[in-house]
Amino acid sequence: MSNTEINLQSLIGDNTKEEFLKLLESQTPFVSHGNTESLKDLMGLPFLKSVENLAAYWQDTVDVFNPQVADEISKTSVSPEDAINEYYCGNCILFNDVNRMIPEFDMWNQKIRKEIGFSELTYVRNLVYASPAGKGNAPHFDQNFNFVVQLEGTKKWWLAENKTINNPMTRHVIGHPVDHELAGYADKEFPEAFPADCIEYILEPGSILFVPRGVWHMTEAVTDAVSFNFTFTPPTWIDIATAVIREKLSHSEKWRESAIIDDNGVSNSEFNELLKDLSADVKNWNAVNFLDVTENQEL
Ligand SMILES: [Fe+2]
Repeated sequence: MSNTEINLQSLIGDNTKEEFLKLLESQTPFVSHGNTESLKDLMGLPFLKSVENLAAYWQDTVDVFNPQVADEISKTSVSPEDAINEYYCGNCILFNDVNRMIPEFDMWNQKIRKEIGFSELTYVRNLVYASPAGKGNAPHFDQNFNFVVQLEGTKKWWLAENKTINNPMTRHVIGHPVDHELAGYADKEFPEAFPADCIEYILEPGSILFVPRGVWHMTEAVTDAVSFNFTFTPPTWIDIATAVIREKLSHSEKWRESAIIDDNGVSNSEFNELLKDLSADVKNWNAVNFLDVTENQEL
C-alpha cells in the first residue's frame, strides 16, 4: 500500500478549509470534479480497481439491497461470491466498514475528522457502493456527513434542502415509517415524494460530492458505478452531555443504584435528593470540564 495520504484537502476540491467549514455548518452540499490525481492513493488501490477485485479481497459478508426498497433499510447479507452474482443480476451491493480491512483508511479517517474538528466520539467509516446501471438509492436523508468519491462509472445524484427538520439524529426514507424519536421532535409531516426543487449532480470517476447531514438525496447509476464513501457521524451536544454526565454520575454509589419505582414515594424522595444535588452541581459545569472527558483521550 502506498504511503502517501488522503487528507481533508483531498476531499474539498478548490475550497479552503475555512470555506468548507462554512459549507458544513450551513449544511450546503458541494461537488468537485477531476480529482483523479489527488485521489490516486485511494483510486489506485488494486482491490478498489473493480467490484470483482474487492469481492475477491473481502473477508466478510456483503449487503444486497432489496430491489423493491432500494435502501439499506431492507437488505440481506451474503457471501462475496453471491454478492457479485446479485450485482450481475442488477442489484445494488454494499461493502460496509471497509476501514476494518485496511488500517490505513482509519488513519486517513481520523486525520480528516480532526481537521474538521469533529469529536473523538465520532463514528467514522468507509463504505463501497456498487450500483448496476439504472439502479440507485431510494429518496432519504441521513444523520451523518458523507464525502462520496466516484471510483468507476457515472452516477446521478439529486439533492434537496430538508425543510421538515434541521439536525435530524436518525435517517429517514420517504414512504417508510418515521423513527419514533424523530417523529417526536419534528414539528412538520415528512413529504411523501422527493422535493421538486432539487439539484442534479452527475458524478464521474474522480468526482467528489459532499452530502451534509439531513440533506435529502437519491441516486441512479447511469452506467455500472462504484463509489467510496467517507462517512462521519459526529456526536451531537446531547451525546457529549449525556456521555459526560453518565461518566460523572458513575462515581456515585447512590446514582448506580438500580431504579425501583416505589408507589409509596420512598424511592421518589431518594431520587429527588439525587436530582437536587445534581442541579446544585450543574452550576459549576462548563464546556471545558465536559470536553476534558471526551477529547484528547487518544494516546
Ligand atoms: Fe444516504
